[in-house]
Amino acid sequence: MKALITGASSGIGKEMAIYLSELGYDLIIVARSKDKLLELKKELKTKINIYDYDLANTKNVYKLYDDVKNDKIDVIINNAGYGLFGSYLTNKLDDEINMIDLNIKCLHILTKLFINDKNVKYILNVASSAGLMKGGPLMSTYYATKSYVCSYSFALYEELRRNNSDKVISVLCPGPVDTNFNNRANVKFNLKEMDARYVARYAIDKMFKKKLIIIPGFSVKMGLFFTRFLPTKLLLKITYKFQERKKTP
Ligand SMILES: NC(=O)c1ccc[n+]([C@@H]2O[C@H](COP(=O)([O-])OP(=O)(O)OC[C@H]3O[C@@H](n4cnc5c(N)ncnc54)[C@H](OP(=O)(O)O)[C@@H]3O)[C@@H](O)[C@H]2O)c1
Repeated sequence: MKALITGASSGIGKEMAIYLSELGYDLIIVARSKDKLLELKKELKTKINIYDYDLANTKNVYKLYDDVKNDKIDVIINNAGYGLFGSYLTNKLDDEINMIDLNIKCLHILTKLFINDKNVKYILNVASSAGLMKGGPLMSTYYATKSYVCSYSFALYEELRRNNSDKVISVLCPGPVDTNFNNRANVKFNLKEMDARYVARYAIDKMFKKKLIIIPGFSVKMGLFFTRFLPTKLLLKITYKFQERKKTP
């Protein structure tokens, strides 16, 4: 049994790696920080292969696929991603494109290249509760990347189902989780954050149960449910206020 996890050097991806290794999976773990991946490898008891690739560089995504395509991988977890806070009017285009390259392009390419691999049974795409909203002012591009992940994965689910495929696609949509995400996005969450270990284990368990949309936490589920009934303009006003309070001084 083997799993590929992108963004496994910290946060949710690292906790997924620990859990899958406990379940007996050999792992291919990918992130930029080689030192952190090596530390993680030391902790784990199954066979671990490390790739310290910057996956925002599309060439590296194809290189990763070429490196591992014959490894008989059962589980693909597209987790690497980050958020960018700030006004769309002043944020730098290059920063947004880099995030799109990682959050969307890398995930899309790996899903596409592995979807017809006969060994791959499960694909878990890490989106966010942001991906189920109607837009996120002050984190506009991040929310849009996660909407892409949701929309793309949901459509793929239906195509697989109609083809009687034995492949399982799941989308993880967590609310705030206590990871390095805030530091990189330069925000401070104003809601209670969930524990990364809990979120990772919950997500993997639900993935093995073939759940399509995985939302850890009752309050996040309820919050998302009620947003469905709000008019778009009102919801955008509320989301703006909510995001504004995340600003770090
Ligand atoms: N934390 C939250 O509140 C939250 C909520 C909803 C969804 N999510 C999603 O959960 C996923 C994991 O994030 P996290 O919260 O666990 O944050 P995290 O602790 O910052 O982990 C992000 C992981 O992605 C890797 N990564 C970042 N840029 C990369 C790049 N260019 N190439 C390769 N790997 C890269 C990081 O490793 P290196 O820095 O070593 O490259 C790290 O392993 C993301 O997709 C995020 O959008 C997070």
